Amino acid sequence: MIYLDNAATTFPKPKSVINKMVDCMTRYCANPGRSSHTMAIEGAKLIYETRELVAQLFNFDDPLRVIFTYNATDSLNMAIKGFLQSGDHVITTSMEHNSVLRPIHQLKTIGVENTIIQCNEEGLININDIEMAIKGNTKLIVTTHVSNLTGSIFPIKEIGKLCKKYNVSYLVDAAQSAGVLDIDMKECNIDMLAAPGHKGLLGPQGTGVLLVGKNVDLQQLKEGGTGSESSNLNQPNFYPDKLESGTPNLPGIAGLNAGIKYILSEGIKSIYSHEKKLLDLLIDELSKNAKIEIYGPKDKSMRCCVLPLNIKGIDSSELAFILDSKYNIAVRPGLHCAPLAHKSIKTQSIGAIRLSVGPFTKRQEIIYAINALNEISKGI
Ligand SMILES: Cc1ncc(COP(=O)(O)O)c(C=O)c1O
Repeated sequence: MIYLDNAATTFPKPKSVINKMVDCMTRYCANPGRSSHTMAIEGAKLIYETRELVAQLFNFDDPLRVIFTYNATDSLNMAIKGFLQSGDHVITTSMEHNSVLRPIHQLKTIGVENTIIQCNEEGLININDIEMAIKGNTKLIVTTHVSNLTGSIFPIKEIGKLCKKYNVSYLVDAAQSAGVLDIDMKECNIDMLAAPGHKGLLGPQGTGVLLVGKNVDLQQLKEGGTGSESSNLNQPNFYPDKLESGTPNLPGIAGLNAGIKYILSEGIKSIYSHEKKLLDLLIDELSKNAKIEIYGPKDKSMRCCVLPLNIKGIDSSELAFILDSKYNIAVRPGLHCAPLAHKSIKTQSIGAIRLSVGPFTKRQEIIYAINALNEISKGI
């Protein structure tokens, strides 16, 4: 199968990820932090080392404020609902995924106000619109780093500057960019960063991270066993225990550990440049075909990771079905959990197929996909 659905979850994973998970499962998959025997300690060490790797990747000071979660959705809910209170105002954008929009929408029921900044037809934000929306009770700005629909890259450094100027906290959804673009939390003044472990970080499904800066304190969304302060009926008030209750996903974290080591040894720039070349090839070749409509920024330097398109006259689900059944190509069709983003780019009624490349996608596979799309368009 030619797998062009890496924006949903990356596949394949590096061999080192699989080996590390098997090693964990066969040698030391005890309950870390709950017991003090040798196996539990090896697991706890692995978890701490992984916190350090995550902190290193995003230039973040405190590994103990790296929280392990189950996916980016879990991280975003933890950040949004743990931070905002009744009477607060939050600003977000129309390019956000439902894992941002829905928690914010839900918080309206407890009196949280929100403003959604409309992005343009290319999926790009005008930063002045964000500045104009800031008011006295604005506590948080939440933006994606890269849109999962259009691949548009958001100016997180400039938005971070704005947040600093107005003393507003900044939460970045790095679901598409973590492991692909450089993210420097200090330089970009990011207070909280949410990322899945299973996409660009190359770990398995069931992993995610939330980095919580020292200027932010989150209310925990769940209480339970932490292996610490066991005689206290209150949830511990220190990180990571405050936000991590219950048995962690040790084999998953082991895989994430190896995924991040793979990225650090290959280098983010080299992964980005590989993916960017393939994406640009897709855009350059497919834009020659008048029957294919490509969405997203016209300026290729403003986009990465994903390419949404339609062939005029074919429903996106049907197109994805043909690609799968006749050409053995995996893509995602329809609406991409980002309803307002589809409105911004005017595809809310038709959806789009999305092709997304990963570190292991080959040039040959992209050429084959281009030929397949051109051939299908001829039959219309
Ligand atoms: C921009 C964006 N945010 C959040 C998510 C949610 O990620 P997860 O599936 O890990 O919960 C996704 C998933 O595709 C995404 O693309």
